[in-house]
Amino acid sequence: MAKKTIRDIDVHGKKVLIRVDFNVPLKNGEISDENRIVEALPTIRYVLENGGKAIVFSHLGRVKDESDKAKNSLEVVAKRLGTHLKQDVVFVPVTRGKALEDAINALENGQVLMFENTRFEDIEGNKESKNNPELGAYWASLGDVFVNDAFGTAHRAAASNVGIAANIKQTVAGFLLEKEINFIGGTLEKPERPFVAILGGAKVSDKIEVIQNLLKIADKVLIGGGMAFTFFKAMGYEVGKSLLELDKVELAKELLDQAQGKIELGDDVYTGKGFSADTEKNVRSIHEIPQDEMGLDIGPRTIEIFKSYIKSAKTVVWNGPMGVFEFPSFAEGTKSVALAAASIKNQATTIIGGGDSAAAVIQFGLADGFTHISTGGGASLEYLEGKVLPGIACVDDK
Ligand code: 3PG
Repeated sequence: MAKKTIRDIDVHGKKVLIRVDFNVPLKNGEISDENRIVEALPTIRYVLENGGKAIVFSHLGRVKDESDKAKNSLEVVAKRLGTHLKQDVVFVPVTRGKALEDAINALENGQVLMFENTRFEDIEGNKESKNNPELGAYWASLGDVFVNDAFGTAHRAAASNVGIAANIKQTVAGFLLEKEINFIGGTLEKPERPFVAILGGAKVSDKIEVIQNLLKIADKVLIGGGMAFTFFKAMGYEVGKSLLELDKVELAKELLDQAQGKIELGDDVYTGKGFSADTEKNVRSIHEIPQDEMGLDIGPRTIEIFKSYIKSAKTVVWNGPMGVFEFPSFAEGTKSVALAAASIKNQATTIIGGGDSAAAVIQFGLADGFTHISTGGGASLEYLEGKVLPGIACVDDK
């Protein structure tokens, strides 16, 4: 169902509530990756340029008690937002009350305000995270219209997304949410073929529903990373000290049966004796992984097999690295897949479904080679599983 977007409403002179996902990583109090802030700018700028009053808010980290507050304050994020917007951002260090209401009422058209971490409301009774009805209604009362642009948190039904939507006349998608819906949702609905899904990461258990859903939609599902070894075991191979989820071997067998040849795992791996960056590196066929070695990356033949599928694809969706790319000597598989996908940018839609694979392509300097890199972690995973995300469902239909 098509959703209303910010283009469908008049924001002039309105108090526009904008839910963003500014849950950015902080190291020693400094923002170490500002991508989510940058990606939210078009929506905020649109409101300001069209004479709206922007009231921006987000969660940050997890807040269980008072001691979590200082390290999870959004003040540093509000400052960074101001730098990008080249204008002052009024920061209100509370989540409710007269100070917040007065500051909102004092806003002029074209001004922007941010209030404190919505999860400060979790300290008593998880009001934000459990979508307390009073809290959603209160936040809704602070604005005239609601723009949800927080894709990263769209898999959570919180007071600051579905709670507000339930208590306000109009809820529309911001440009980032719209982009995520169009790329991920649109691709799953109507992919150009051949559609190649690439799945990696440590555990089959984390990706079961993604595999099941993509098996229904994709033409080929390439599986690498730690989770491949549970599949190799299911095929009857010994995997040495590689990551293995013994309790998922039966399920892997079922998935292989169900896939009827759609799953491709390759046939070799790079191994090491220990889980360390400087462990000795060997190439092993999957028939002969020694007992004292563990697979740490897809092997050179597998890389070529994966590349050949990627190169002829018209749609690529990728979630999860092919190996331990954080160790330079085991980054080859992930990097080769990234390069192959980046090389078809002009002829295909290439989407990274967030998380570690997004971190990998950014680390390799290949981010520009992709059509879309999702800002979601858990949200993109659940979207790829085919689930209805509450943060999208709560947006008004067109
Ligand atoms: C994310 O970073 O995936 C989102 O902001 C959601 O955060 P959460 O897992 O703490 O709910």
